[in-house]
Amino acid sequence: MRILVVGSGGREHALVWKLAQAPGVTDVFAAPGNPGMASKATCLPIGVENVVELADFAESMKIDLTVVGPELPLTLGLVDELSRRGLTAFGPNRLAAELEGSKVFSKLFMKKYGIPTPDAEVCQTRGEAERALKSYGLPCVFKADGLAGGKGVVVAQEAEEAERALKLFFEDRVFGSAGDRILVERFISGDEVSFMVLCDGERALPLATAMDYKRIFDGDRGPNTGGMGAHSPSVLLDASTASDVLAFIVQPTLKGMADEGRPFRGVLFVGLILENGLNPYVLEYNVRFGDPETQAVLLRLDGDLLPLLLGSARGRFDEGVQPGWRREATAALVMTAEGYPGPFERGRAISGIEDAEAIKGVFVFHAGTAQGLDGRLVTSGGRVLNVCARARGLSQALATAKEAAGKIHFEGAHFRRDIGKKALDILVERSGSMLR
Ligand code: GLY
Repeated sequence: MRILVVGSGGREHALVWKLAQAPGVTDVFAAPGNPGMASKATCLPIGVENVVELADFAESMKIDLTVVGPELPLTLGLVDELSRRGLTAFGPNRLAAELEGSKVFSKLFMKKYGIPTPDAEVCQTRGEAERALKSYGLPCVFKADGLAGGKGVVVAQEAEEAERALKLFFEDRVFGSAGDRILVERFISGDEVSFMVLCDGERALPLATAMDYKRIFDGDRGPNTGGMGAHSPSVLLDASTASDVLAFIVQPTLKGMADEGRPFRGVLFVGLILENGLNPYVLEYNVRFGDPETQAVLLRLDGDLLPLLLGSARGRFDEGVQPGWRREATAALVMTAEGYPGPFERGRAISGIEDAEAIKGVFVFHAGTAQGLDGRLVTSGGRVLNVCARARGLSQALATAKEAAGKIHFEGAHFRRDIGKKALDILVERSGSMLR
């Protein structure tokens, strides 16, 4: 069986790593891939936005399954193009991908189907946004409608920040057409949980829970990023809340999407906030695996990923197929380039990955790396590496990942030292230090 993985991040490296282990897989290709995957996959110089070129390759190479990592090719219709050519692809089609591609669509969808989500107003002018801000008060959330590379959400705590956000959206227009409409949303305080399910259009198979840490600096300070670290399990979502999320959020979403003529296949990644630690509200949908959540989750997947993805792509999970999970916990720490999430430096030599991987239970997934002219590994993106560890408990997984990240060097390297602290504090509070 021949597999094509589309994307070049840590998430796609983890997918390649897992899929290459599946029985019956003979060839793995990645477009464009990264140097970390090169031992398991043939990397192709095709960008993720080149829908026709990707489909041409899949058709000519008789690819049995294309797994689409990032949201952009999904919203551009890569799955539609592959299906049109009779090829099997994992991920939602263009219409279903609008759950992530348009925040206005997803908010109106949730309101229509009674899915719990913070109230919001759709605003096309600064005047409308000011009126909505006045009615919700501060703090308040501003969201660009379209894809904005993870940068389209501003939480304004103070009037000055709200003023800056309004200028950003309506005067500077930094998000271009993605900011033609915005949501002004009521702020809900609580902890965020990433809840991912695999869907075949009708049924949902939950993946292990994960918790993501979005801010760049320790103590949840500084600007938001694509994700600075994750661990699995999340510890915030107990079994009863998880089953409520399935019953009151995931199933109505799948039913609603089917009723809208947009049946959802692929990963539905529900970004939840737990108000008062209990009541889940949907902050946003993503229509692809989370990054770095996926790195943490796939390291816990016991058994084969391929039948799950194939079932989803074909629109019907095989009877009895269920993901199984290892009891160990996992942690993923993201190492970033100097300046990220703002403008950052590239081309800095990376060393120490082998030393990190020599530690038991450590896996390093590449993201923004490239082969320099002299053949050495250099930085080429904002999020450079994911240093992951699997161990008996969360505390040990986090400590091992931290030790491993400490062995990797490039000029200006940064990683958060407090990933998982919030979860460990909760565990201690719940059960005393015996559980650590
Ligand atoms: N880590 C958050 C995301 O993948 O969107």
